[in-house]
Amino acid sequence: MHSRTTSRTASRTTSDVLVIGGGIIGLVTAWRAAQRGLGVALADPEPGGGAAQVAAGMLAAVTELHYGEETLLGLNLASARRYPDFVAELEEVSGQETGYRACGTLAVALDADDRAHLRELHELQRRSGLDSEWLTGRECRRLEPMLAPGVRGGLRVDGDHQIDPRRLASALVVACERAGVVFHRRRVDRLSVIRDRATGAVLDDGLELTADQVVLAAGSLSGTLAGVPEEVLPPVRPVKGQVLRLTVPRAYAPFLSRTVRAVVRGSHVYLVPRENGELVVGATSEELGWDTTVTAGGVYELLRDAHELVPGITELPLTETRAGLRPGSPDNAPLLGPTRLPGLLLATGHYRNGVLLTPVTGDVMAHALVTGELPEVAHPFTPRRFSPTRQELSV
Ligand code: GLY
Repeated sequence: MHSRTTSRTASRTTSDVLVIGGGIIGLVTAWRAAQRGLGVALADPEPGGGAAQVAAGMLAAVTELHYGEETLLGLNLASARRYPDFVAELEEVSGQETGYRACGTLAVALDADDRAHLRELHELQRRSGLDSEWLTGRECRRLEPMLAPGVRGGLRVDGDHQIDPRRLASALVVACERAGVVFHRRRVDRLSVIRDRATGAVLDDGLELTADQVVLAAGSLSGTLAGVPEEVLPPVRPVKGQVLRLTVPRAYAPFLSRTVRAVVRGSHVYLVPRENGELVVGATSEELGWDTTVTAGGVYELLRDAHELVPGITELPLTETRAGLRPGSPDNAPLLGPTRLPGLLLATGHYRNGVLLTPVTGDVMAHALVTGELPEVAHPFTPRRFSPTRQELSV
């Protein structure tokens, strides 16, 4: 176990661990590492910002299952199982609520094609040993009376819950502060590498942060940090998602009692009702680089599809429109743990599952920082899968 170290001179500060990036993934890594006795610094101009400010916060291991992603399912389920204890501890430590709601999810079909697609998903879920129940359209509407009369059937998944990612981020900032994490509210200019080892980073004001280990957890920006050698630079790209927030007036409550989602004309749409009356409607999925413009077309499509599911939404005040960037990776799975550059670890590439994967990422990264090894649950997610050595390439 490392000793707890943080020290400072005029132009340089030193810690055991430096986390680059203060979104929920960087924060949970810093918090869990500090809890394990490490001296941790975190650099981000705005800790608690990032994709969590836009995300809906569905914890959808079962309803977001995709063909070919069965390995990722294992990690998603491991994280979902940790959620209740994680939230209880975080709320206790931070004194803040996170909006965690064990509400379940209903995935519905609007036409015969959707129904066939959902039947296949149900089969995949069953083969994967997951709990989900097929309901007729009438049974769906009995559960959620605001659903459109045309709903043709659906899948009830009581184990897919939600959390408010903004409150989660805010609670993690406080938990980090209380655990002694030192925040540098600046942009990181570049990673420092000396003699083939990551040794820290330089901030945009010139301050040099040195550390025994550096964790790059900068979400969709992770692939752009100067100074990171090409062969270990994470292959992460931004995938834009536009999201709407509406408000359910008290007189209309309960509008929906659980998350409702569907695939409409090939696009995912979901409605996530919070206990405080917020209704989140998401999300587009657009490969447009760094663009975070909210477009009339994006808002129109989300409202059109959501209206087909739940016609009453057009009565609700539209309170916010925003776009965020998911950190997509080549296999849609995160990159966790040590890289081939000694001293540099990654916690990035969480794509559609950053909120769901927050608890397990914190545990995995703290374990890796303390022991130098990835726990078994994270073996398939080593960043080394994208940078094979010459020897590995030849076998
Ligand atoms: N997991 C929801 C989304 O990425 O839109």
